[in-house]
Amino acid sequence: MQVLVFDTVKEASQKAYDVFKEALNNGSKVFGLATGSTPETLYDIMVQSDIDFTQSASINLDEYYGLAGDHPQSYNYFMNEHLFNKKPFRANYLPDGKNTDSANEVERYNQIIADNPIDLQLLGIGGNGHIGFNEPGTDFNERTQLVDLAPETIEANKRFFESANDVPSKAYSMGIASILESKTILLLAFGEGKAEAVKGMVEGPVTNDLPASALQNHDNVIVIVDKAAASLLSK
Ligand code: F6R
Repeated sequence: MQVLVFDTVKEASQKAYDVFKEALNNGSKVFGLATGSTPETLYDIMVQSDIDFTQSASINLDEYYGLAGDHPQSYNYFMNEHLFNKKPFRANYLPDGKNTDSANEVERYNQIIADNPIDLQLLGIGGNGHIGFNEPGTDFNERTQLVDLAPETIEANKRFFESANDVPSKAYSMGIASILESKTILLLAFGEGKAEAVKGMVEGPVTNDLPASALQNHDNVIVIVDKAAASLLSK
């Protein structure tokens, strides 16, 4: 695991942009993408740049169960607003939150990932160490799954909704096994609220109590953090 520490979110996001640009220049065609606050600066930088994704496909990590793609709090809507409307891709894939047949949706999304092997997967991390919506206790062998969101995740994400009661309690998420099949993984973490999870991911034991620790089992992981998120690392 390569850990790079930057003074500011801006500088860290610029470095993340450079990783994307280099991957694209080296022939990467499929990009795994994340939502949430963490990648917003990176997506702003992409939008303002000349990066060209018109020959690329994107595959997002997750989507809230029960929300249609045009719901303002859906991750489909978030991606359109922050990136896709301004930077067109050849294809954009997200789980379909409105598909109530979970076995069918899991199969559909696993097939999309199998047909489009991910070259570079972007990740954020939850304060509880989740990646995607793979919450503590998750099975590292899972591929796409319908997950119950942890209470702390609902609490953390209620800022995007009117109240915690409006946050869906379930989501479709790419599983740890699918994430680990990506050729390169780029994880971003900013702010002191992520410091403990970052320490566990980098220095702690590999345990499903801290799903991001599974990344220690992958040989091509770049972790880009700001000083606050790095503050508990021992070196
Ligand atoms: C989002 C995702 C989540 C977030 C994580 C951090 O697609 O998969 O794992 O990356 O919850 O969220 P933020 O960036 O809002 O702190």
